[in-house]
Amino acid sequence: MIVIFLGPPGAGKGTQAAHIVERYGIPQLSTGDMLRAAVAAKSPVGLKAKAIMDAGNLVSDDIVAAIIEERIEADDCAPGFLLDGFPRTIPQAEMLDAILTKKERAVDAVVELRVDEAALIDRLRNRIKETKARGEEVRADDNEETFAKRLDVYREQTAPLIPYYEGQGKLRAVDGMQTVEAVSAAIDAILDQIQG
Ligand code: AP5
Repeated sequence: MIVIFLGPPGAGKGTQAAHIVERYGIPQLSTGDMLRAAVAAKSPVGLKAKAIMDAGNLVSDDIVAAIIEERIEADDCAPGFLLDGFPRTIPQAEMLDAILTKKERAVDAVVELRVDEAALIDRLRNRIKETKARGEEVRADDNEETFAKRLDVYREQTAPLIPYYEGQGKLRAVDGMQTVEAVSAAIDAILDQIQG
């Protein structure tokens, strides 16, 4: 089962990914987490990505596609995987299609989490508060100014993936304004159907 989570920053992709990993036993491939690990490790990719991410922009399509291509070679991806935050542009989606076609695999479903923009900003504020309360460091791109930029980037570069996957008959929209548990149940219903 190959599933993509699509949605604006703060839509709940990471939250729901944790549930999918537990319920379906497939790994979460989060390009955001992988890039943050590269930044922390000061690897060549991390050094290139840091300023771009801090500004709320997208890292180049070639870099993220290469990261994903390498990651899906791992044994734990054989039964399937969940892509969280990738693809984020039409060229990335086309690269993914090419990578999977070579392996005679294909995306099964694209789950779009729909959340109002006002709610996204409230969630960001909560996340900042909760992170501070835990004594952890707040993400460098989690501030209101950069968040607004990330939303613009989503509208301009990522939202075109909605008609792209609609055209492939793979888009499944979920109301992300519900409680975490209700969103999980809606996603489970979609994935259970795919698994048959
Ligand atoms: P990335 O790490 O992918 O971040 P993002 O898409 O901006 O998403 P977030 O992690 O902010 O939100 P989320 O949807 O996971 O929500 P969460 O579950 O945390 O990307 C970061 C950067 O990396 C990009 O800007 C870019 O620079 C780079 N990058 C990554 N991928 C790339 C790519 N493919 N190409 C190029 N560049 C790339 O939830 C948010 C909050 O809401 C939490 O506090 C949570 O507890 C709460 N919450 C969740 N669900 C609910 C609910 N139902 N009700 C109430 N609260 C909820």
